[in-house]
Amino acid sequence: MTVCSAPGKVYLFGEHAVVYGEPAVPAAIERRARVTVDPRDDDHVRVTAEDLSLDGFTVEYTGGTGDRPDVDVPTPLVDAAIGYVDAAVRQARAAAEEPDAGFDITVESEIPLGAGLGSSAAVVVAGIDAATRALGEPLDRRELADRAYRAEFEVQDGEASRADTFCSTMGGAVRVEGDDCEPIDAPNLPFVIGFDGGAGDTGELVAGVRELREEYRFAADTVRSIGDIVRAGEELLADAVPEADPSRELLVELGELMDFNHGLLAALGVSARSLDTMVWAARDAGAHGAKLTGAGGGGCIVALDPHEETSTALSFTQGCEEAFRAELATEGVRVEEP
Ligand code: PMV
Repeated sequence: MTVCSAPGKVYLFGEHAVVYGEPAVPAAIERRARVTVDPRDDDHVRVTAEDLSLDGFTVEYTGGTGDRPDVDVPTPLVDAAIGYVDAAVRQARAAAEEPDAGFDITVESEIPLGAGLGSSAAVVVAGIDAATRALGEPLDRRELADRAYRAEFEVQDGEASRADTFCSTMGGAVRVEGDDCEPIDAPNLPFVIGFDGGAGDTGELVAGVRELREEYRFAADTVRSIGDIVRAGEELLADAVPEADPSRELLVELGELMDFNHGLLAALGVSARSLDTMVWAARDAGAHGAKLTGAGGGGCIVALDPHEETSTALSFTQGCEEAFRAELATEGVRVEEP
């Protein structure tokens, strides 16, 4: 039995624009997906998934048979979760050159599904790591991140950047620009997350931005401006003391950029009433900045606040299902049980 875990992430800056070659800075957070893998004697794959949403549910199916579980959550989410596990298995089999390897897999995740916190990337990263280790062929981190990206790319019909999978593999904050991915230094940013209980359709939202960008020059300019925000944010982070508590001045400046980033994402049509409501509740409570994270359309916002006010205000905000503080996860994927 091999158990690996990998963290979720928030986008400090740059989602959507990263799809068009602009840089993005995601940061890993201490909410993890744990994947347990037991090799089998036959070539079957059996997956049990627990707590794939914050409400929790269990699904059991036999991979590849077309069976679908009978559970009380939207079918597209369950199909997506199963699709990611299948893709991770294909990558692990290819990496270990064992095309007929069978596995019993258990997925336990604390990361809400499809809500902008990188749940699928965490499952894929931890899954490929655990499966290749179980086959005696552990991968180095760069190859693991690359295979996890290929798994996401396959499931998302090519609409995937390397941001989520690289960040979940490496931990900490990272910078992604096209195929170029590097860890960067970051202070202990005081993230507060608000979750509306829902999820956006990433494919649809990415397609919407693509259409706007093709139709209007000002939409293409908006995407480029998001890139400018990311570059400004990177400069601020580069001047900060890594893994220390950030100064108030830094939080104010980063927060201003996050607010700007949210405004531009809203202009591109990827926010939602629930996300805007949570963003304003956070700002009113004194957060230094707040923005949606991930594809948008529903799901999560991220705010910066070292105090409890934002989290408390969000927990009383209509439409906010859950509010929680999230530490920067300095460790990416890790072995829990060898
Ligand atoms: O919602 P998430 O966490 O899957 O993030 C999507 C981010 C996009 O930039 C919209 C797409 C991508 O793959 O980068």
